[in-house]
Amino acid sequence: MQTSKKITEKVTWVGKVDWELTKFHGDELSTRKGSSYNSYLVRDKKVALIDTVWLPYDKEFVNNLKREINLDEIDYIIVNHAEIDHSGALPELMREIPNTPIYCTNNGKKIIQGHFHEDWNFVTVKTGDTLDLGESKFIFVEAPMLHWPDTMFTYMTGENILFSNDAFGQHYATESLFNDKVDQCELYGEAIKYYANILAPFSALVKRKINEVLEMELPVNLICTSHGAIWREDPLQIVHQYLEWADNYQENQITLVYDTMWNATRRMAEAIAEGIRSADPTVTVKLCNAAKDDKNDIVTEIFKSKAILAGSSTINNRYLSAMGAVLEMVKGMKFKNKKAAAFGSYGWSGESVKLLTADLKEAGFEVVNEGYRTMWMPDEDALKACREFGKQFAESL
Ligand code: FEO
Repeated sequence: MQTSKKITEKVTWVGKVDWELTKFHGDELSTRKGSSYNSYLVRDKKVALIDTVWLPYDKEFVNNLKREINLDEIDYIIVNHAEIDHSGALPELMREIPNTPIYCTNNGKKIIQGHFHEDWNFVTVKTGDTLDLGESKFIFVEAPMLHWPDTMFTYMTGENILFSNDAFGQHYATESLFNDKVDQCELYGEAIKYYANILAPFSALVKRKINEVLEMELPVNLICTSHGAIWREDPLQIVHQYLEWADNYQENQITLVYDTMWNATRRMAEAIAEGIRSADPTVTVKLCNAAKDDKNDIVTEIFKSKAILAGSSTINNRYLSAMGAVLEMVKGMKFKNKKAAAFGSYGWSGESVKLLTADLKEAGFEVVNEGYRTMWMPDEDALKACREFGKQFAESL
């Protein structure tokens, strides 16, 4: 049983902390620190519920909500985003209060109907529309493609709360609820992983929408996200961080991502890394084995990098499939302003470097050379050449 938690006099958290969640979006996103589905009950002269929880917790959610309030007292339901992790408990809730109006964007209505095939009492809203709660009011702000077409933010006057849904969230289970009560490294790590793996493709829209909201000059005391910790201490820190991440983000880092059959390509990677460090001792160099490391962590490391090197042995005239999975994800992320090159070992035909180079270009990287390959296990001369390749790569950035 999940207990509700008071956030302000008028706002109570009534969501679900999911400590067991390890995968999200099917198998696409790892959530090693769990997650939460944050739902908020707002009690003013009118009562509103903002978002619900993921489908498997629908009954638990509605039962907990009943302990908090007589469901008939809920005047409005706000659906900031129709993805199932937030709208999953709607059918269970609407069985109890079928006529309660659901406020959402026009796209939100279509998606909710597409999911549940119900014709509930929808009230569609646009940017600037308001909903009077008695003392406070809600101001709605559409935020399409952050990260679905239906997404919107809801701002509550008086309490000065931005209910931002996915934006500024983290897949991070915590009973502490607020950003100032959790481990700051964990919080930052999960926030950047969330941005790199979910929001990065929409960076241009992120920048535009944040600037639009900042221009509204609304005071913000809290940013209540739909996942993870609520931003209470210096809440705008995450907004400014998003502006940085959305602006062709890079750190002084080079990441080598590779897969290897008999360790020849791994040895190449290590020698190339040495060469990079010899050219620039200030650069952070990280090596990731695509077959062993978490793919979303690799995507996050690539997001942080100013350049990457992709390596693979050749197998069946192709490169190894674990590299395919990473590159396929990276193509979708539409990272900008990053350089790259390829490397790999081979026995006879040796297509991997050429194919990796082509895919790096397709993923939007500026490929700085034709790559480097060695035959069979690299000997001392080949390792020396790898070090030189790494050195020249670093110098070319
Ligand atoms: Fe947390 Fe887009 O759902």
